[in-house]
Amino acid sequence: MIDYISIIQKFYTPGSDGYNLLVEHSRQVAELASAIASRHPELNIDRDFVYESAMLHDIGIFKTDAPSIHCHGNMPYICHGYLGRELLDSMGLHKHALVCEHHTGAGLTKEEIEQQGLPLPHRDMLPTTVEEKLVCYADKFFSKSRICPAKPIEKVRQDMSRFGNGTIARFDELTKLFGTP
Ligand SMILES: [Fe+2]
Repeated sequence: MIDYISIIQKFYTPGSDGYNLLVEHSRQVAELASAIASRHPELNIDRDFVYESAMLHDIGIFKTDAPSIHCHGNMPYICHGYLGRELLDSMGLHKHALVCEHHTGAGLTKEEIEQQGLPLPHRDMLPTTVEEKLVCYADKFFSKSRICPAKPIEKVRQDMSRFGNGTIARFDELTKLFGTP
């Protein structure tokens, strides 16, 4: 296992509001993803990797401008996935890095990024491995603005509609693959 807490502590001060929120949210996602993985032995999910990458999937948020979740950077919030990827890539954690880049919405296609004028690099950012898909899926059940129990799936689906029809279709595929938590 990699020491994900030490990695988080490189960028977040232990005990600060931003640190606490990130670690609590990431643990919720990691625990749900682990629970789903254990219900699906047929998918041969690498559970250690899922836990580690779930703990790191939002590592890029501090670079964004989202004061309500204690982030005081200057990038738009939607960039946190690929910014996290860059951080982890620079540490040689390339597989974990892709989980960061591929977890926004139910993933984003290059066409969606272009058509919606999103401030992101123009490339596909879709979860491809089963582990990437699982972290992406589990993340959708939790809000960061307020730490609370998993949202009902109907609410998650409704929240996803802001990303467009492609996102809803991909979210439904993920629900078929992993079941309703
Ligand atoms: Fe997240």
